[in-house]
Amino acid sequence: MKVTVIHGNDRQGNTYKAVELFKAELARLGSIDYAEYFLPKDLPHFCNGCLACLVNGRERCPHSSHITPIVNDIFTSDGVILASPVYVMNVSGGMKSFLDHLFTMWIPHRPEVELFDKIGIAITTAAGTGMRPTLKTMTRSFNYLGFKRYFSFGCRALDLERAETKVKAKVAHKAHEFYQTMLKRKSLAPRLYPKLVFAAMRPMIRSYADDSVVARDKEYWLQKGWLDSKSPWK
Ligand SMILES: Cc1cc2nc3c(=O)[nH]c(=O)nc-3n(C[C@H](O)[C@H](O)[C@H](O)COP(=O)(O)O)c2cc1C
Repeated sequence: MKVTVIHGNDRQGNTYKAVELFKAELARLGSIDYAEYFLPKDLPHFCNGCLACLVNGRERCPHSSHITPIVNDIFTSDGVILASPVYVMNVSGGMKSFLDHLFTMWIPHRPEVELFDKIGIAITTAAGTGMRPTLKTMTRSFNYLGFKRYFSFGCRALDLERAETKVKAKVAHKAHEFYQTMLKRKSLAPRLYPKLVFAAMRPMIRSYADDSVVARDKEYWLQKGWLDSKSPWK
C-alpha cells in the first residue's frame, strides 16, 4: 500500500511526532510505502491567485514544478495524511497554501475521479485549543475533493509528552480505522455529500458562458458527459 504524507511544517516537533506514532501503529498492521512532503520546503510559494489553473489547466500553475509531483503521488496512493500544527486556531500557512493549490480539483470545478476512492486522515497538535477548526480545514478539502472516506484526530502537546498510554490508544484506534478502510476502499459505497454537490453544480455549470473564467470547467464536464446524465460514480 502507498500513503502520501503532507507535513504542514518542517521542524520535526510535536506534529511530526504524532505522525510518527501513527505510522508506527500502521506498521503493525501491514507494509506501507510513503511519499512525504514537508511544507513550505516542498512548496515554497503561496497561491498568487493568478487563476492560470482555472483558466488554462492545473499544469499551467506557475508553481506546477512543486505541486505536480505531490499531486501525482496522491493519485498513486491508497491514502493521504494531512498533518498540521494549530497556528492561531487553524492550519499552518504552509498547509493552507498547499490546499489552496488544489482548488480546481474540488467537485464544483474539475474533480479528479481518481481521488474518489482515496482515504484521508487529518492530524493536528496544539498547545491547548483550536484543534477542531484546524482538522475541519483539512477534512473539508478531503470532502470537496471527493475522497471516499476520511478521518481525523488531534493531540495536545502536553499529552504527547506525558500521557503516552492515552495518546497511543487513540492513535492505534485511528490507525486501525484508516488501514482497514484503505484495504477495502475500492468496494466501499460512495458518500452522499459529494453526490449532492455534484448534482447541485450540474445546472450551474451548464449555464456558464463559453467565454467566462470558468469556461474550462464547463468544457471538462461536457467532455466527461456530466452535463447530460452521466455521473462520475456510474
Ligand atoms: C504561530 C503559532 C501559533 C500557535 N497557535 C496556537 C493556537 O491557536 N492554539 C494552540 O493551542 N496552540 C497554538 N500554538 C502552539 C502549537 O500548536 C503547538 O505547540 C504544536 O504542538 C506545535 O507543533 P510542532 O511542534 O509540530 O510545531 C501555536 C504555535 C505557533 C508557533
